[in-house]
Parts: sequence; structure tokens; C-alpha cells
Amino acid sequence: MTEVEGHKSAKGVFLARVVSNESICREHYRLVLSVPELPPAQPGQFIQILCTEPSDLGWTGGAFIRRPFSIGGLRRGSTGVEVEILHRAIGIGTRWLARLQPGDPVSFLGPLGRPFVLPDRGQSPALLVGGGIGLPPLIWLAESLQAAGVPAIAFCGSRTADLLPLRREPGVDCSSGEPALSCREFARAGVPALVATDDGSLGVRGLVPDVFAAYLDRHPELAESAVVYTCGPEPMMRATAEIALRRGLPCQVCLERMMACGMGTCQSCVVRVRDTQAPSDWAYRLCCTDGPVFNAADVIWD
Ligand SMILES: Cc1cc2nc3c(=O)[nH]c(=O)nc-3n(C[C@H](O)[C@H](O)[C@H](O)COP(=O)(O)OP(=O)(O)OC[C@H]3O[C@@H](n4cnc5c(N)ncnc54)[C@H](O)[C@@H]3O)c2cc1C
Ligand code: FES
Repeated sequence: MTEVEGHKSAKGVFLARVVSNESICREHYRLVLSVPELPPAQPGQFIQILCTEPSDLGWTGGAFIRRPFSIGGLRRGSTGVEVEILHRAIGIGTRWLARLQPGDPVSFLGPLGRPFVLPDRGQSPALLVGGGIGLPPLIWLAESLQAAGVPAIAFCGSRTADLLPLRREPGVDCSSGEPALSCREFARAGVPALVATDDGSLGVRGLVPDVFAAYLDRHPELAESAVVYTCGPEPMMRATAEIALRRGLPCQVCLERMMACGMGTCQSCVVRVRDTQAPSDWAYRLCCTDGPVFNAADVIWD
């Protein structure tokens, strides 16, 4: 993985306004925030949202410490910048987010973290393997790949149909086991998706890493030049990374840790990585500033 230029560029605290906040499936919401301006940002980066009324710092509900969310899309226009996130309401902060209405003020810090590295020339297709609420950074990555002219396939997993945070394209079958333009978020970037659910309630039945491995078995020609990107629950990412690395495919993982500051100060977000320069051949890195995107071959899965 080569160094990404510019990811340490400017960041700031922004007071945004809610454009929309719609329920997209059980427990999941798409939140669009608008700010007058935002420094350059790339897929894989995240923002730290203050999940409480910006002026009352949590005294009347919400969370006092900012919460991290991947940027799931970003549109720059003449009147400002729209930042899209998908969030799952699981706790005090995300339940506060779920109640937001158009026009409400929201404070966020960002853009933060190290983004995905786009494929080198000749590396193609990009295989995007995501699980549940790990899908948002891959949605924005799909758009960047399209802009760079890199073909991609998305492998989208969730426990059940009603926990998949993607909209279905009406009339497009997603149960054949072959990628199709079945999920709107990927289809609008021209990326076919293969959907898998643990219980078979949508797409093919099975865990998304197994479905991904079976697809690679059916398409051995991909092992020559494909590059893999993954984000989701840690066991899913680990399984995906092992499948990719066993086949000699480069793989980038977008990790998640509990984060307080998001800027390298609190040390709450450590990740163990291989480091031949360190006395014991491994070292801690910070998920917020050295990641969240890491080279899968470097990660020591605990
Ligand atoms: C880089 C990064 C990107 C993320 N992107 C997204 C995203 O796009 N959409 C999204 O919905 N979520 C995302 N998350 C997870 C999100 O930050 C947490 O769900 C959120 O902080 C929960 O806040 P809360 O106040 O609602 O939950 P809390 O009330 O604080 O906690 C509720 C439960 O969730 C657990 N929890 C809280 N934070 C995390 C975490 N970071 N990892 C694992 N378990 C956690 C707690 O242990 C507790 O069991 C991301 C996390 C990171 C680090
Ligand atoms: S979240 Fe504070 S150092 Fe990473």
C-alpha cells in the first residue's frame, strides 16, 4: 500500500445543518449534513460527530464525547458541501442522531484518518467486501473507483434483509449468486453487487466472506490482478483479509475502534501491527490517525 498524499490536510470543527435524515431499514438511517465548506476528503476517512445539541454539551440528552462515523458520500456544489453518513441507532449518541430533523444544527470534526489507496495501474477489478454498517465507506469508494475508471464488484452482507443499509433496485434479482445492479447505492456508481444474508432472507444465504471466497473460486482469473477492500464487523474483515491474502490479493481493511478524540491524543484506539523495526516485531498504531484504513497484511488480529 503506497502512502496517500494529502490525508493529513486541513481538518476543522464545522457547524452543519441537517438536510435530511431518513430511515432506510431497521435501526439504520441516512443522514445528510450541509456545511458551507469542507477541506479535501477521501473515501475511508471519517468525521467525529457531537451527538448532542451543540450549545448544551449533553446536559439535556445525547453524548458528551464525539462519535466516529465514516463518510458515506460527499457532494461539493456552488452553495456548499453535503456530507452523507449512514448510522445505526445502537446507543445514546446514535439514538440522538436518529431524532434529528431537517434544519437542526450538528457539530462535527473532520475529515479525519487515513483513506483507502486507490488501485495502482493494472490492478483491477476492485472487490469491495462489506458487512452491515461497514458498507458506507465502500459506497463512497465505489464512486471514486468509477471516477478513476476502475471496474468494481461489491459483496454486501448483513444478518437479515431488514438490516441491510442499502436500497434495492426494483425488479433486479439479487438471489442468483452473481453480481447484479441490485443495490441503488452501488448501482449509481455502475458497480454490481452480490448480496448475502446470514439467514437467506435476501440474496444468497451465507456469511459474506464465504460468498466472496466462493465467487473467487468460480473466477480464478481475478486472482491475477484484483485488489480487495473490506469494512464491517472485525471477524468478517479478518476472514475476508485471510481469503484475499491466501490468494495473493492485496487487501485494505477499514478498522473500527472505540474512539474518544479521533485525533491521536487520547490513545484509546490502538491496533497491533507487524513492524520489523520494533524489538518484538510488532507495534501499536492508532486507528484514528494511522488508520482507520490499514494494509491487511500488517494487522495482527487479536
Ligand atoms: C472509524 C469509524 C467509523 C465508523 N463508521 C460508522 C458508520 O459509518 N456508521 C455507524 O453507524 N457506525 C459507525 N461507527 C461506529 C460508531 O462510531 C458507533 O456505533 C457509535 O460510536 C456508537 O455511539 P452511541 O453513543 O450510539 O453508542 P454507545 O451508547 O456509546 O454504545 C452502545 C454500544 O455500542 C458499543 N460501541 C460504541 N462505539 C463502538 C465502536 N466504535 N465500535 C464497536 N462498538 C462500539 C458500546 O460498547 C456499547 O455496547 C464507526 C466507528 C469508527 C471507529
Ligand atoms: S481516538 Fe484518541 S488517539 Fe485515537
